[in-house]
Amino acid sequence: MNITRRQLLTATLIPFATSGFAAINTTHPSTESALPPVPPDEPVDGPLFLRAGPMLGHVAHDRALVWVKASNAGKVTLKVGATADLQKARTIAGPKLTAETAFAGTIEIPELEPGTRYYYSVQLDGEAATLRPHAFFQTPPAPGTAGKQRVAFVSCSGYRDYMVAASWADMAARTAFDVLLQLGDNHYGNTSDLAKQRANYLMHRQPLGFRALTAKVPCVGVWDDHDYGVNDSDGSQPGKENSLKAFREVWANPAFGEEGNPGCYCKFTRGDVDFFMLDVRYYRSPDKAEKTDEKTMLGAKQLAWLKRELAASKAKVKFIAGGSVMETGGPLDSWASYPAERRALLDFLKDMEGVVFLSGDRHFTAGYQVEGRWLEVTSGPLGSGNATCPASPEVWLSCSEGKMWSIIEVDTTGPLPKLAYELWHVTGGRTERRELSWEEVNGRAKIAPSPPLPKGATPAAKKAK
Ligand SMILES: [Fe+2]
Repeated sequence: MNITRRQLLTATLIPFATSGFAAINTTHPSTESALPPVPPDEPVDGPLFLRAGPMLGHVAHDRALVWVKASNAGKVTLKVGATADLQKARTIAGPKLTAETAFAGTIEIPELEPGTRYYYSVQLDGEAATLRPHAFFQTPPAPGTAGKQRVAFVSCSGYRDYMVAASWADMAARTAFDVLLQLGDNHYGNTSDLAKQRANYLMHRQPLGFRALTAKVPCVGVWDDHDYGVNDSDGSQPGKENSLKAFREVWANPAFGEEGNPGCYCKFTRGDVDFFMLDVRYYRSPDKAEKTDEKTMLGAKQLAWLKRELAASKAKVKFIAGGSVMETGGPLDSWASYPAERRALLDFLKDMEGVVFLSGDRHFTAGYQVEGRWLEVTSGPLGSGNATCPASPEVWLSCSEGKMWSIIEVDTTGPLPKLAYELWHVTGGRTERRELSWEEVNGRAKIAPSPPLPKGATPAAKKAK
């Protein structure tokens, strides 16, 4: 979505040491061009070091993906073991890091046990590139296993890293979730130029909070318009192959579309919860195209993939996550502009239990009960300026102030799954928690609107002095 000058003016400007800016900008610029430039992504001479990462990508019950970006060409290895001192650790060779991938790469750790903690360290050209104490992660339970897990999801990181740095630091300091989904607008490069894509990703991977968080929490991402192409971009975006190349370089996702149908979509499983991550840009018809039966957001192959995977899913809860909102009253740049495909998808899901839509893009956070049937939560902004959530009979919760992230807790240990939604604010902590019954999740009971948050609960509500 577009953001207005007013929204940009309200964006939080927080100086951050790793931004690479010569001077700290203390005034609120009125346009993006008045912001400090995005530092170029260029190799650094001398001994190798990690310019970004290690970032955990997809972590399955039996394997894990770890992403790194080095300062120059070299070899990466991981040591992985079950003890904090990494005695008896395995050494796993990663790919050669070369200029072809801007010195970024993903290492796969195979042969892991479910529900187990593993420690790891990174070496570049055989030299230690991470410090002790060693980072660790937890593998999820095996597919189909009941359990409790907490899923965090975010969108809209802002034009520059310092706008989102405090949010990442806060999330890292009080991590209360098992997996992180970045649902697009993860940078605001507004470009399909490869060098600019890389520079914007690198900038947004450098905040210390982001690095601390994603070294210990698995993170899977999809793009939305601003980190794919221009504002409200679609399948006609020139140079979209460059955006996909940059995307593949920086995400350790389980897949990048399908053979013969590339993109950022993928599916993964944690216990008895399935995650369907959508690509809502690469094959999208223009928002303003005529509303015909052929008008598509996902493209025919991705839609067929989604239906096939959903039909095959045995998971009790199925998250369908992407940048565009499903709510009926969505704006031009949302599912509302794709009525035929939206209707067909919702009809397909009519009798399916446990479907939850997760979305972003809107610069506010809102919970919806779409058509009184499907649960949706759109989460944001994590770093961008705020927009105001429009009133809608489908809304059961909304917040338009502050930098926010959302958590959905899923507990499948009982006879019926239990879900709870939590809203978190940077510096404010948890500002809302709503238990959602299985009847509410499946549209058999109306989700009552949440009372407004107490005055002053959101830090941004207080006037800056
Ligand atoms: Fe967006």
